[in-house]
Amino acid sequence: MTDTLTVLGLESSCDDTAAAVVRHTVGQPPQIMSSVVAGQTALHAAFGGVVPEIAARAHAEKLDHCVEEALEKASLTLRDIDAIAVTAGPGLIGGVLSGVMCAKGLSAGLGIPLIGVNHLAGHALTPRLTDGLAFPYLMLLVSGGHCQFLIVHSADRFTRIGGTIDDAPGEAFDKTAKLLGLPQPGGPMVEAEAQKGDAARYAFPRPLLDRQGCDMSFSGLKTALLRARDAVIVQNGGLTQQSRADLCAGFQLAVSDVLAEKSRRALDLYMAELPPEPAFAVAGGVAANKVIRARLETISNEKGVRFLAPPLALCTDNAAMIAWAGIERYRRGERDDMTLSAHPRWPLDKISPSMLGSGKKGAKA
Ligand code: KG4
Ligand code: ZN
Repeated sequence: MTDTLTVLGLESSCDDTAAAVVRHTVGQPPQIMSSVVAGQTALHAAFGGVVPEIAARAHAEKLDHCVEEALEKASLTLRDIDAIAVTAGPGLIGGVLSGVMCAKGLSAGLGIPLIGVNHLAGHALTPRLTDGLAFPYLMLLVSGGHCQFLIVHSADRFTRIGGTIDDAPGEAFDKTAKLLGLPQPGGPMVEAEAQKGDAARYAFPRPLLDRQGCDMSFSGLKTALLRARDAVIVQNGGLTQQSRADLCAGFQLAVSDVLAEKSRRALDLYMAELPPEPAFAVAGGVAANKVIRARLETISNEKGVRFLAPPLALCTDNAAMIAWAGIERYRRGERDDMTLSAHPRWPLDKISPSMLGSGKKGAKA
């Protein structure tokens, strides 16, 4: 098998169009030669959420440009590419199709292999791209659309040991921002407000902490925030800057308490497998939250487990993770062909029962 592989990755499963080139030589750390992400926030802003048809059309328009830019930044041409890796799901079907069609065209035109990648596997394998993490490791994927604990046994074996039964934390952060009149995306705004607030002033529930296991729930926190906000407005005739900050602080503490306790339990389950090089990695936009990140790191340290949070640009949706997951598949001798199809749903763990919900934004993984 070729020692050095240069793979072009494509990602278009939600509202980010992305292309990246990753090069890997056996025995050496992989190299991200370029990673281009074109967001679509402005296109969907007026609708309060991602509109699938608009997203699909924008992906179809932007993919070629992203590929050109990724090649240019890597100082390469299409002739230097050994294989095309593409997100084949889960996600919004129109967007995934745009990527798969583009990848098939490139693969057929260049006569090089095509590799379909599970978007969630892309996230889950990122710590191997950034830090060469050894299997098995524990992963918390926590974003606007997802929240799950995975034990990553190998590049194609994942055990989900818990996850949200309704909303993802990022969605709750976004809703909190909306309810308090803060701009989107809400997470960074709520975090900034919380810094100025008193987390003890308003009481928030800690959903599902009384239930065994690692499942979580965040939709009740949104309702709790709405009630608390309305009570403050009735009492004070409006929302002061201080009460807004206090609400943010109380909400953020509740989310971090839940994530911390459930991470503790997930770590216990993981450690029971006696991993030779124990590690706990986080990915997803919510991992950018400094308070949450610090709590997870502390728990990891308490358990004697290495903690890892990849750089934010690689935690959120990108194509470098898709190229890398493609390289892992390629190295195992796996290839796809022109029958590769787009999957709107594609659970990583085929054995564990599927969750009731995986974040209402669902499509964004
Ligand atoms: O991974 P990502 O870019 O896309 C999704 O898959 O959703 O994550 C975006 C989510 C948004 O809900 C955003 O509000 C949240 O991550 N987020 C944060 C922070 N930064 C982004 N949540 C809490 N604190 C933050 N600092
Ligand atoms: Zn994602």
